[in-house]
Amino acid sequence: MDYGYLMDEARRARKAAYAPYSGFQVGAALLCSDGSIFTGCNVENASYGAANCAERTAFFKAVSEGKRSFRAIAVVGGREDAEHLDPCPPCGICRQVMQEFCGEDFVIVLGNDSVDYELHTLREIFPLPFQ
Ligand code: THU
Repeated sequence: MDYGYLMDEARRARKAAYAPYSGFQVGAALLCSDGSIFTGCNVENASYGAANCAERTAFFKAVSEGKRSFRAIAVVGGREDAEHLDPCPPCGICRQVMQEFCGEDFVIVLGNDSVDYELHTLREIFPLPFQ
């Protein structure tokens, strides 16, 4: 399975990141089982705890449009002034949201600004979920 196109969508989504407080911009692209894709970026707030991660933005967009079945999510992140992007593993809250809607084989695609990316499953990165 080639996830290059999903990484491209995540990199494109990152351009809309609203991250004036952390300066760390994240983009995500969520692949639904029907083949549709929902993108997301992080959206921060002056009240720091109100920030929403890129992954959850993508999930909430998709779920609010009636999607309930998902195959994979691509994530890319980095400081706004960074020359290179690094793999950005999802935070714990985003892993819990993935757990709510996805099976243990849901794929997390972590990339950077090259064509390379790593593949992980949800159960690998979230082994003992609350459910
Ligand atoms: N962030 C994400 O968007 N996704 C993650 O998986 C980790 C962190 C965002 C939240 C915040 O806006 C910034 O990155 C720094 O934590």
